[in-house]
Amino acid sequence: MADKSRLRRKLREKRRNLPAFRQKLASQALTRRALAIIPGIDTASRIAFFIAADGETDLMPLIRKLRTRGASCYLPVLDDNYENRLEFALYTPGEKMTLNRFRIPEPHALGRQRHNYRKMDIIFMPTVGFDDQGRRLGMGGGFYDRTLSTIRLTHSRTPLLVAVAHDIQYTPQLPDEPWDIHPDITLTPARIIRRNS
Ligand SMILES: Nc1ncnc2c1ncn2[C@@H]1O[C@H](COP(=O)(O)OP(=O)(O)O)[C@@H](O)[C@H]1O
Ligand SMILES: [Mg+2]
Repeated sequence: MADKSRLRRKLREKRRNLPAFRQKLASQALTRRALAIIPGIDTASRIAFFIAADGETDLMPLIRKLRTRGASCYLPVLDDNYENRLEFALYTPGEKMTLNRFRIPEPHALGRQRHNYRKMDIIFMPTVGFDDQGRRLGMGGGFYDRTLSTIRLTHSRTPLLVAVAHDIQYTPQLPDEPWDIHPDITLTPARIIRRNS
């Protein structure tokens, strides 16, 4: 546990220290590669993103591009009914946002514009660390693990999970906890790791 938090701290510091031009290149590379590589991205109607913070890759160029292609874009919001889980709210770039209790901006979307994760076709997951097996280390809150905990229990269609990371977030072997939900694909500016599970 102490190891995991030390590792998170180290990896977060690394990505925060990336110079602006590296961030820009990462964002451009990610956009290009996501459009070329992710299966079904062209026909997906609902796609969940996240707003970059703490040195994460900026996915706004990808959001804008996919909106021009007709996709609806969503952002994670805290679930009102289930503690420490996420729902996904419809997002229009430029709209006024509200800060949640973690000071993370959320769209205002109410009612029919908020969805359970199952309604998404693709979910982009923020990532602190990844390894060769496609395991994901998050920020330590377990929010995506909790939200997606039922994803492998069903035979119905489920969203494609895509972790987005910088190459410097590579770690030789991450701990694999029983509750961890790992992505189908980990995408970085230079690498793609597909997980078969
Ligand atoms: N499905 C779940 N149900 C209840 N608690 C969970 C679930 N998934 C994760 N957690 C809790 O979240 C905490 C953080 O999970 P962890 O995998 O370490 O973080 P992260 O995925 O953000 O790196 C864990 O201590 C765990 O107890
Ligand atoms: Mg986890």
